Amino acid sequence: MMKQQYQPLFSLTLLVIFLSHCTKTLGQGPAAAPATTSPAAVPAPPADAPAPPGPTNVTKILEKAGGFNILIRLLKSTQIDSQLYSQLNNSNSELTLLAPPDSAFSNLKTGSLNSLTDSQKVQLLQYHLIPDFLTTQNFQTLSNPVNTQAGDGFEYPLNITTSGNAVNISTGLVNTSISGTVYSDGQLAIYQVNSVLQPYGIFAPKTPPPSPAPSPAEEKRKKKSSSHEPVAEVKSGAVPTLNIPKINGIVSIGVALAAAAISFL
Ligand SMILES: *[C@@H]1O[C@H](CO)[C@@H](O)[C@H](O)[C@H]1NC(C)=O
Ligand SMILES: *[C@@H]1O[C@H](CO)[C@@H](O)[C@H](O)[C@H]1NC(C)=O
Ligand SMILES: *[C@@H]1O[C@H](CO)[C@@H](O)[C@H](O)[C@H]1NC(C)=O
Ligand SMILES: *[C@@H]1O[C@H](CO)[C@@H](O)[C@H](O)[C@H]1NC(C)=O
Ligand SMILES: *[C@@H]1O[C@H](CO)[C@@H](O)[C@H](O)[C@H]1NC(C)=O
Repeated sequence: MMKQQYQPLFSLTLLVIFLSHCTKTLGQGPAAAPATTSPAAVPAPPADAPAPPGPTNVTKILEKAGGFNILIRLLKSTQIDSQLYSQLNNSNSELTLLAPPDSAFSNLKTGSLNSLTDSQKVQLLQYHLIPDFLTTQNFQTLSNPVNTQAGDGFEYPLNITTSGNAVNISTGLVNTSISGTVYSDGQLAIYQVNSVLQPYGIFAPKTPPPSPAPSPAEEKRKKKSSSHEPVAEVKSGAVPTLNIPKINGIVSIGVALAAAAISFL
């Protein structure tokens, strides 16, 4: 019964909406018409006109280079691609991208990328971006740690050193090097790196937070509850959680040497 009563009311509402929409559209008609013939209207460009140069499109360059599908997907999903696009629209801004190819991403520990939060993905990408245009000669004169767009050289330290023609990069967790130039135009440089640069701020082996000295009140409470919660049990549980992430951290680096070292333990 209730449903049947709502039905006409609903239809009536639709009708009202429809009618008011029609009258609005009709009302706009005369006003909209002169606008198209206005002398101020910008003439449509001829169909064969070349596209305006516009800012440099990083994902387009990487697409053209090929083999950077995972990096491109990350740039798009974090919307850093459009951020870079508007950044490069300012001719005063310079940028160097250290671009890991798909093979570098596939060397990461399985799932390590998926386990990152959205903001960690943003930080990871910004860590691969240096707000300067760097030529290969510039690498020799960089002072370490290098300033990346992830900021904070403490959690996101990045050292770049050169030896001969080699440009070596160290995050503290990963040692890698530059394997080629993808793009360079005086404002933007893109270099291929052999590994994903894993910053401390995201991939550091987890260490337990320093336990603050318990307040007297806490101490009392602990003593009171000690009969219910044996301290020994808690402590023995804390030992493995201290060690396991450390081992994971080393493995996640994917360094064969580190893996070999563990197998000797
Ligand atoms: C940049 O290029 C990519 C790939 O060609 C395209 O999908 C994207 O829309 C472009 N971005 C802008 C802001 O034009
Ligand atoms: C680039 O910057 C100019 C001037 O600030 C602005 O008018 C233009 O819309 C921008 N273009 C893009 C594609 O962001
Ligand atoms: C750079 O890395 C190579 C191996 O990739 C190594 O032989 C060389 O010693 C490194 N140089 C520096 C300055 O770290
Ligand atoms: C980076 O270089 C600085 C300064 O030379 C040094 O103190 C630091 O230990 C280096 N860090 C790494 C991860 O190589
Ligand atoms: C990176 O290289 C430095 C010295 O070149 C070495 O001390 C460190 O253990 C290496 N780190 C990794 C993760 O391989």
